[in-house]
Amino acid sequence: MTELKNAVLNSIQEQYKVNFNKNLLYNEKLEIHTYPLIYLHKNRIELIKLFKNEQNFLNNLVKYFSDYTIYFVSSVNQYLDINNTEINNLNFLYKSFINEIMFLLNRKTTFEKFILYFKNIMSDHSCGLSNFFKNIKSYEILKKTFQQKITPVVCSDYSADFQLEILNLALNTIQSPVLDIGCGKKAHLVKKLKSLNFDVLGMDRNVMDSAITRNQDWFEFDYGTNKWKTIISHLGFSNNFLAHHVMNSGFLEDYTRCYLRILKSLKMGGKFIYTPSINFVEKFLPGNNFFIQKVRVNTRYANEIFNLNLSELDSYSTISVVEKIG
Ligand SMILES: C[S@@+](CC[C@H](N)C(=O)[O-])C[C@H]1O[C@@H](n2cnc3c(N)ncnc32)[C@H](O)[C@@H]1O
Repeated sequence: MTELKNAVLNSIQEQYKVNFNKNLLYNEKLEIHTYPLIYLHKNRIELIKLFKNEQNFLNNLVKYFSDYTIYFVSSVNQYLDINNTEINNLNFLYKSFINEIMFLLNRKTTFEKFILYFKNIMSDHSCGLSNFFKNIKSYEILKKTFQQKITPVVCSDYSADFQLEILNLALNTIQSPVLDIGCGKKAHLVKKLKSLNFDVLGMDRNVMDSAITRNQDWFEFDYGTNKWKTIISHLGFSNNFLAHHVMNSGFLEDYTRCYLRILKSLKMGGKFIYTPSINFVEKFLPGNNFFIQKVRVNTRYANEIFNLNLSELDSYSTISVVEKIG
């Protein structure tokens, strides 16, 4: 059974790989990679049994598909936000997709015919996925960063030292407990701080759950109140907030509310350190509650410290340090 389960997962990954640059919003259709399906077709009786007897496997598979799709799409467009209701809709889409495949597996067909029918299922599924993305709240964002051929962007793989350097952060100025918002799939900074005995937690929608990381959406995360001495977000929360502001998406209220919850979760004297800056919202923070310092990221080693009222364009090249003072 384990071998069969692995073959299913492997086949799914192969289908994603073969479709890595397809833009369904340009009416492109998903292709199928036939080779991994040979084994599944050959073992279809076992496969049907597996699906019938192990409801858990089926449910996990739906989640696996949904997570993979969100991961896949957000790796080419990191500003995409998908809420829980939308995730439920995506799960529903994958449930029907799997049902169609089960139905097909139940038919006695040659491999050639099986592939032919499978192609039809994939074609319908392409339309289903395309409609799904056209109906999510983030569609406006997707549209604005549209290209016919998709290329993944570099996202979430920055080394801990690089992040510290860009954020102008010396280790001896960081105080525990530390929260890293949008810590990245590999959570490099969180791991480094943990190895230096900091009390640290990282959260990201793409990271695996562990003792020091939480897989969660930043809109859903419970930041707590008066909890963190240092909150860090390198090209994470503020980067997306700024992008949504510039693209005038429907998410500004969600981001503003979440930003305020993050600030509320700081202990007195605690700091939220992030880049890029978000001048359009920072300027509204009450001066008797928050002291804001900006540091310009100039060159690799030169950071210039100043406290000016910057324009929005300047946001891109500055770090903000927001300290709770009252
Ligand atoms: C550019 S990467 C930066 C990652 C990390 N801070 C670094 O510098 O290596 C942005 C991260 O934000 C995460 N992210 C984007 N939207 C998110 C959301 N709604 N909830 C949680 N994490 C999110 C992405 O998964 C990604 O890992």
